[in-house]
Amino acid sequence: MKTQIGIIGGGPSGLLLSQLLHKQGIDSVVLEKHSRAYVLGRIRAGVLEHGFADLMREAGVGARMDAEGEVHTGFDIAYDGMRHHVDLKGLTGGNSVIVYGQADLTRDLYDAREKTGGAVIHGVENVQPCDLTSDNPFITFEKDGEKQRLDCDYIIGADGFHGVSRKAIPRDKIKEFERVYPFGWLGVLSETKPVSPELIYAKHERGFALCSLRSQMLSRYYIQVPLSKTVQDWSDDAFWAELKKRLPEDVSSQLETGPSIEKSIAPLRSFVAEPMRYGNMFLAGDAAHIVPPTGARGLNSAASDIYYLYHAMLDHYKKGDDAGLENYSQKALARVWKGQRFSWWMTMLLHNFPETSGFDRKLQQTDLDYLFSSDSAMKSLAENYVGLPF
Ligand code: FAD
Ligand code: DHB
Repeated sequence: MKTQIGIIGGGPSGLLLSQLLHKQGIDSVVLEKHSRAYVLGRIRAGVLEHGFADLMREAGVGARMDAEGEVHTGFDIAYDGMRHHVDLKGLTGGNSVIVYGQADLTRDLYDAREKTGGAVIHGVENVQPCDLTSDNPFITFEKDGEKQRLDCDYIIGADGFHGVSRKAIPRDKIKEFERVYPFGWLGVLSETKPVSPELIYAKHERGFALCSLRSQMLSRYYIQVPLSKTVQDWSDDAFWAELKKRLPEDVSSQLETGPSIEKSIAPLRSFVAEPMRYGNMFLAGDAAHIVPPTGARGLNSAASDIYYLYHAMLDHYKKGDDAGLENYSQKALARVWKGQRFSWWMTMLLHNFPETSGFDRKLQQTDLDYLFSSDSAMKSLAENYVGLPF
């Protein structure tokens, strides 16, 4: 089999790049380990920055997002029983975010690839990127027990944090930076009316909580939990009781509870691998970097990688200009690290750290007091939350 761009991973990064390239007449094949149903069953991101939304529109897959996604012009931070409003629109001169689930946008991308005959091969095994430093890289894989080979000009490693692409780079050619946090997020999806039309991030002495949503009939809630417990240790009742304790009284009294239709625990981690290129393979999205979810940056950081890669590929194939490919890693990492800084800061600001000293707790309180009393600090929060320019 032969194509121009061989893409490992059929998550949002791989599919979005494939669809954008298709619109420009550039051929790609996406190799995905799991079934479509499995990928769509993963409940993950919910907040899209406007730059990402523009990219979806450019890929021709923005219609449902624009019809069904909710534009959010602000959110609340609850602290000490009080709610502080972050007016994204006012603080950024008109910017906002779109609340639209990752599963929905991934389905839109699958539908678009299918409609235009795009090659997305599910259920591939033993995927291996090969000959990366040659002009003729290729990917070997197995499908239904049969060995296959995909020859391509370039390989994109978009196979998430646990994928094979990053691991195919020799250890002495890549540097990894990591911070692991001593807690996770327990997330629940429920067919209940959201407690608030806007998101609420809550800092409480019992731990962080987040009230989010997918629609006015579908709520998504998270609470900070110790990693010593598994998801089976949390009954729905225990989850709702703990969430209520962490929200201000005027919010918890309005909370509608119901059976969870999805419940999972995500560990929190900051991670960056540098550089994001090895030979003719480029890493994108979670394959190269992970953030703790607090600032809603993960999928949005993946989107900026795709933006840079897409334009680099266009310059290569349409103008014979390789500057974008040469600069990809440097350009992508500059924005990735800004997303890392913001996610780390929001995580430090809003969570309880079991081991921290009185001094650290005082700094955290001061950081919150400063934020709520300074227009400049609020502007900085809002500017990062809606997404820095690509
Ligand atoms: P992935 O979504 O991980 O996709 C990679 C794909 O590669 C997968 O489908 C996988 O099956 C496939 N794959 C893996 N290995 C192989 C292999 N060997 N061969 C072939 N295929 C392979 N981000 C935000 O921006 N906003 C949010 O609000 C937000 N909230 C989040 C909440 C939670 C609870 C979590 C866990 C994450 C959240 N994120 C958020 C992060 C976001 O979900 C990720 O950043 C995003 O999924 C990255 O997309 P990706 O395509 O790079 O990787
Ligand atoms: C959601 C997830 C996040 O990490 C976040 O910061 C905001 C919303 C969500 O899943 O809805």
